Amino acid sequence: MIVNFILKKLIRLKNSSKVLKFFYYYHYLFHDKKLGDIGFDFTKKKSRLDIVQNIIKKKEYKKYLEIGCFDDELFNYINCEKKVGVDPVSGGTIRKTSDQFFSSNKEYFDCIFIDGLHEYKQVRKDITNSLKFLNKGGIILLHDCLPNNYFEQAVPRCQWTWNGDVWKAIVESRKSKDIDVYTCYADFGIGVIIKRPNRNLLEFSNQDSKSLKFEDYFHNHKNLMNIIEYEKLIEII
Ligand SMILES: C[S@@+](CC[C@H](N)C(=O)[O-])C[C@H]1O[C@@H](n2cnc3c(N)ncnc32)[C@H](O)[C@@H]1O
Repeated sequence: MIVNFILKKLIRLKNSSKVLKFFYYYHYLFHDKKLGDIGFDFTKKKSRLDIVQNIIKKKEYKKYLEIGCFDDELFNYINCEKKVGVDPVSGGTIRKTSDQFFSSNKEYFDCIFIDGLHEYKQVRKDITNSLKFLNKGGIILLHDCLPNNYFEQAVPRCQWTWNGDVWKAIVESRKSKDIDVYTCYADFGIGVIIKRPNRNLLEFSNQDSKSLKFEDYFHNHKNLMNIIEYEKLIEII
């Protein structure tokens, strides 16, 4: 109880406007290489709501898990026989962090949507844990995989519109032989992980993914992220 109370306060503090502003100037002065915007435009693309629901319908999935629910915009939209939503602050059905949830979980799911803490280390853990509790033929989806500029992906977070460095966890997953990994060009980038042999193994530098820089992503995002359109995604799942 006390741990969750402190956690909630910490998350709120990290996202307060003064803290965000402080980190914005920190990134601007010390890290931003002034590369500007990549130019992703998601306005005419499908929303995550339709993408997740259409996948559940097409594959006749029965069990849905969402990590990070916030105001339940997606969670409430999803129509699925069994739904579990995990968030330490708001929304969903279980008031825990993803780590706390997975440490005692015994259930398996068909579709897992990862949208909790958008930091590489945490996303990596969420992927590993989700793979353990994914039913055969299931799918893992991740939100916010395609940041448009340095600030949208900077850690610590420095603005309200924020993808974090989820993209690094996708790059890392793309180097694994046992999972097939894509990024759908829609709704700030929807990562897709399917448990089957990798059909497009990433051969990029062997440096560990955490140390990748925004400029690596800026210049190589198509190759690194294996970007596909929604229509292609529906075809390959
Ligand atoms: C971007 S919002 C989720 C939005 C929601 N999935 C949707 O599509 O409408 C991110 C949420 O993740 C939650 N969160 C932060 N750290 C978390 C963690 N360690 N485990 C699970 N959820 C976390 C936050 O409290 C916040 O509500």
